[in-house]
Amino acid sequence: MPKKKGRLEFLEMKKKGEKVTWVTAYDYPTATFAEAAVLDMILVGDSLGMVVLGYSGTIPVTMEDCIRHCQAVRRGAPNTFVMGDMPFGSYQVSDEQAVASAVRFLKEADMDAVKLEGGVRVKSRIRAIADSGILVCGHIGLTPQSSGPMGGFKAQGLTPESARYVIADALAVEEAGAYAVLLEGIPPELTEFIHRRLSIPVYSIGAGAPCDGQLIICGDMLGQFQAFTPKFVKKYANVAEVVTAAFRQYADEVRNGVFPGDEHVYHIRKGCEEEYAEMLKEYE
Ligand code: KIV
Repeated sequence: MPKKKGRLEFLEMKKKGEKVTWVTAYDYPTATFAEAAVLDMILVGDSLGMVVLGYSGTIPVTMEDCIRHCQAVRRGAPNTFVMGDMPFGSYQVSDEQAVASAVRFLKEADMDAVKLEGGVRVKSRIRAIADSGILVCGHIGLTPQSSGPMGGFKAQGLTPESARYVIADALAVEEAGAYAVLLEGIPPELTEFIHRRLSIPVYSIGAGAPCDGQLIICGDMLGQFQAFTPKFVKKYANVAEVVTAAFRQYADEVRNGVFPGDEHVYHIRKGCEEEYAEMLKEYE
């Protein structure tokens, strides 16, 4: 059984240059697979809105959705560091609202940490959550909850002007007391700079290799989510193909009488076949 890692182990890994492995999961079976593969961290992302619930973005995802999926993941991965993602609307109103939402992730779903999107504009939220004793991870660069104002899911920091905003966000996240920061959709040159400049662990999703670890969306890497595939995704499996083929074969076998076979049924208890047949006759 893997030993559950925490903030100190992640700092130690950073010091030694060991990369953290991190995937999203939203349900019990996927969480069991992640733990069996001894991954370091799991994020129950609000990407569940797209990957699992079929929304076109993350905005409709609620606290109830997130808590329910976090609980399932925790049951599947009791020995893995699991982070809950704060959905849109759960921290926008005030610092007090942010703390109350973060507290729910710990009390109701046994999460080890929470994540929220934004840097400079959510600095007081991060500080309030960190001051209440909860590990909080920042998420900057391409932030899906802001894809509307950003004009879509677009890479950030590609020009010097845009990179200044990302750097300001990174500094704000660290100053506010986040224990780590996740960079999404920025160039590796900027990732390398931020990694050098900050002392907290710096993780990447679509931000290249020069940092402390990688996150990937399970639906993307497993080939489950088919609406679109970002450039930064590598597919390690094609679950959609495997599952569709299995469903097709099942349907064929049912239609052709191949399934269920004799090995898939319960037989009448040995010795009472005759009595059974007599009993059925009474109803004819
Ligand atoms: O919800 C999520 O999975 C995320 C990742 C895109 C970083 O926030």
